[in-house]
Amino acid sequence: MKERILVTGGTGYIGSHTVVELQLAGYEVIIIDNLSNSTIDSLAGIEKITGIKPSFENLDCVDYVGLDYMFSKYEGIKAVIHFAASKAVGESVQKPILYYRNNVNGLMNILDLMPIHGVQNILFSSSCTVYGEPDMLPVNETAPTKPATSPYGNTKQICEEIIRDVIHSGAFMNSIILRYFNPIGAHPSAQIGELPIGVPSNLVPFITQTAIGIHNKLNVFGNDYNTPDGTCIRDYINVVDLAKAHVVAVKRMLDCVQDEPLEFFNIGTGRGVSVFELIHAFEMSNHVKVPYTVVERREGDIEKVWADPQKANTILGWKAEISVEDTLKSAWNWEKRLHETRKV
Ligand code: UD1
Repeated sequence: MKERILVTGGTGYIGSHTVVELQLAGYEVIIIDNLSNSTIDSLAGIEKITGIKPSFENLDCVDYVGLDYMFSKYEGIKAVIHFAASKAVGESVQKPILYYRNNVNGLMNILDLMPIHGVQNILFSSSCTVYGEPDMLPVNETAPTKPATSPYGNTKQICEEIIRDVIHSGAFMNSIILRYFNPIGAHPSAQIGELPIGVPSNLVPFITQTAIGIHNKLNVFGNDYNTPDGTCIRDYINVVDLAKAHVVAVKRMLDCVQDEPLEFFNIGTGRGVSVFELIHAFEMSNHVKVPYTVVERREGDIEKVWADPQKANTILGWKAEISVEDTLKSAWNWEKRLHETRKV
């Protein structure tokens, strides 16, 4: 019998790619999502890739009673992968209560209900945002966390601490926290990808939308940073590589081979890429121009951050494999597909 995994936020960007990889690895997936930042079309995309339609419940993790019912309906869940959360940094500054409610209360409901329904394992989506501007690069998991610069970032830190406290309390629970660097790209089939609502605040969706003509130009936020070309440096990780990290992390929990009941892993490539380098790589990979102009720095931006992924490489046996070029091709193919859909 296939082992059953609950994926909250499973129709979203990282969630949908992870569902695909879980199914391909032989797991049965139950998705819950409130479709606040994704569409039901993801299910068809997932099915086209894997041939398997995942079970789906339109449910908000803030709905304790609904979650309780769902855990009873799908008994025998072996692990929860908790993606469901609000994730726009700017919006979180405007609507902090929304962010604390969705991100913190949602996690607390899950943690509360897991032991009641005999679910022992939880994989939590965190972010390199917890490291702030790191003192040393590349940044590894022992680096101190820094005060968050937005309510969104704060929710990630608080959620990590809640999981730590619950496990410290002696709860019969195991957890792996994955700290993602900058996920980009889409599935090579172009059946699933990122669906930004409104004007994207992240770099790659803005690049692809500019290349297709939705925006006249891309604003590069500052070229006076202390980096070789003056623009900020990030560790851009392909979303399919990222999804695969979840599969090996889930297996590690289910095989009960964790060194500690709570483990943290950086999920990145280990390479830093500047904004200019990324724009040029996009242009070279796809043979399209991305008009851009340099504007003021964006408030709260980190100058440079990239991962030391050694721990994930050795302990999880996971490594980022897809090149930046192929990743940027997949992002462009996905944008072109969205463009076709917009026209019909
Ligand atoms: C942002 C969040 C981070 C969150 C992540 C989710 C901030 C400070 N951080 O990361 O907490 O986990 O999104 O994906 O918002 N850039 C431009 N022009 C643009 C957009 C971006 O020059 O139109 C630059 C930014 O200044 C930055 C880089 O591109 O240097 C990457 O930006 P972005 O994709 O927004 O990611 P982060 O800021 O790293």
